[in-house]
Amino acid sequence: MPLTQSREISAASRLENVRYAIRDLACVADEVIAQGHKVLPLNIGDPNVFDFQTPPHMIEAVYKAMRDGKNGYAPSSGIKAALDAIRGEAARKGIGTIQDVFITSGVSETVDICLAALLNPVDNLLTPCPDYPLYSAVLAKLDLKLNAYYLNEEDGWQPDLDDIRKKITPRTRGIVLINPNNPTGSVCTRQMLEEIAELARRHNLVIFADEIYDKLILESDPSGKDAHVAMAAVAPDVPVITFGGLSKNYLAPGWRIGWGIASGEASVIKAYVDGINKLLRARLCANHPEQYAIPAALDGPQDHLIEVKRKLRSRRDLTQKWCTDTARVSCVAPRGAFYAYPRIEIPESDEVFVRELIRQKHVMVVHGSGFGQKPGTQHFRIVFLPDEQTLGKAYAGIASLIRERYGKG
Ligand SMILES: Cc1ncc(COP(=O)(O)O)c(C=O)c1O
Repeated sequence: MPLTQSREISAASRLENVRYAIRDLACVADEVIAQGHKVLPLNIGDPNVFDFQTPPHMIEAVYKAMRDGKNGYAPSSGIKAALDAIRGEAARKGIGTIQDVFITSGVSETVDICLAALLNPVDNLLTPCPDYPLYSAVLAKLDLKLNAYYLNEEDGWQPDLDDIRKKITPRTRGIVLINPNNPTGSVCTRQMLEEIAELARRHNLVIFADEIYDKLILESDPSGKDAHVAMAAVAPDVPVITFGGLSKNYLAPGWRIGWGIASGEASVIKAYVDGINKLLRARLCANHPEQYAIPAALDGPQDHLIEVKRKLRSRRDLTQKWCTDTARVSCVAPRGAFYAYPRIEIPESDEVFVRELIRQKHVMVVHGSGFGQKPGTQHFRIVFLPDEQTLGKAYAGIASLIRERYGKG
């Protein structure tokens, strides 16, 4: 008789803590789609699903690279032309103490590598709450517990410094700062960056500055300039890994191109950077031909950003007005990226609300509990990438569910 395996192959128990609410909701949507309905997707931050296209000169650069035979493995850190372009862009942002630059399969892989290269089993990392769930998923994969600090809704979702101070332990190795923020759309003030840098100095922390949305600032400062300030420019002496990529600013999420810029004092960061490079070598390289789009993107025309920001401002304004006008809903106005994180006052969990919204009104948003939130509060995340007509339809659906299910409040 042939031998067959009959015992179930179980997944590693540490995976129980891996959640990715944004995609986990897809099963509910699939049921609704199977019944013949169209679902309005306000849940995934992919501009290319909507009326945003990758700039053609970037596509040309990748196509040319493929035609020119750049189809083998690339160097583990990335191709020189792209690394030079990233250094140039970092210099324009005032980052002067660069110790290393490396290109990865999206910021997702940068995060994976940078966290794995830093953290021992007894260590912890401060991550924001609400959080972009990649960070908690990577920490779970490393079998590490969350050490989450709150973003303060009453203070425009700025990091809560008192909470950060309380949560630093002798085993805290770093802090993640997402700026502009997903899921709240907030942008850190320069003073906040300075305060966090000071805490990092005092407690010997690495700062992970996730700045993947840095060109999508929707509010100007009084001088009319974009208001984004790079953490690594404010704190040249502090070990900072700045994350950037092509997914959002350059509308090419499917290419899976991201990067990390390590800055700070050379002697302080050297051993850690060596560790990162070990892991970079172990996974061979990032997508090769797509790396040729990096110089095209960073050094080429930036015209697409004018149109992208015009659309996003209009959609943000519509979203904000709807939040203000709708009973039980309130929202801190987003200042960057393409997310709003409204608060909702309802007598049941935001996850139930979001599932019912998909089932009854065919609108998909993500529940606040999928990102984390203060106990006793409930939220949902809106992606305001769709055009005004689609957003209008979605908001009418959300408002009618709130009215029908909870009354006016
Ligand atoms: C804050 C943040 N960081 C990282 C990522 C992942 O980006 P990538 O597509 O480069 O992996 C996202 C994607 O939504 C994000 O919102």
